Amino acid sequence: MKYKFNESEMTTFAERLGRLLEAGDILILTGDLGAGKTTFTKGIAKGLGISQMVKSPTFTIVREYDGGRLPLYHMDIYRIGDDPDSFDMESYLEAGGVSIIEWGELLEEDLPQNYLQIKFSYTEDNVREVSFETHGVRAGEILTQIT
Ligand SMILES: Nc1ncnc2c1ncn2[C@@H]1O[C@H](COP(=O)(O)OP(=O)(O)OP(=O)(O)O)[C@@H](O)[C@H]1O
Ligand SMILES: [Mg+2]
Repeated sequence: MKYKFNESEMTTFAERLGRLLEAGDILILTGDLGAGKTTFTKGIAKGLGISQMVKSPTFTIVREYDGGRLPLYHMDIYRIGDDPDSFDMESYLEAGGVSIIEWGELLEEDLPQNYLQIKFSYTEDNVREVSFETHGVRAGEILTQIT
């Protein structure tokens, strides 16, 4: 399953996904700089009913949003390489919210067991291709509901 989305289609799709996510769900967003991972996360936050402005957590590693149906833990581990132990990711994953990890594929052997991977690639100006990879049963359920 592959989609080509402009920015507003991307946001609408992510918002729909945000409405059906459950506590403990983990999304790993993969794609180059500017591929749309944070834009997608903004749509999910909207779908979760979060009205705060979602900002890229690149320099903070994680930002938490508590104003919606479920807490959202938005992580970006692009800059964690030097000191992975400085941040207790596990405690977020188990905290009963929705976790989104930009650049999560960099975790390699530390990847969680169950997650939906969403891959973004640049096709042309203002269009992004989105594809999915499921890891575990729950990810398959989510994918069935959104596609
Ligand atoms: N179809 C589209 N979907 C998503 N974003 C788009 C699209 N077309 C253009 N854009 C623009 O591309 C940029 C995507 O940036 P965004 O911060 O979401 O990327 P990112 O994958 O999070 O990058 P980084 O790895 O630096 O965190 C935004 O400026 C957005 O406005
Ligand atoms: Mg980003």
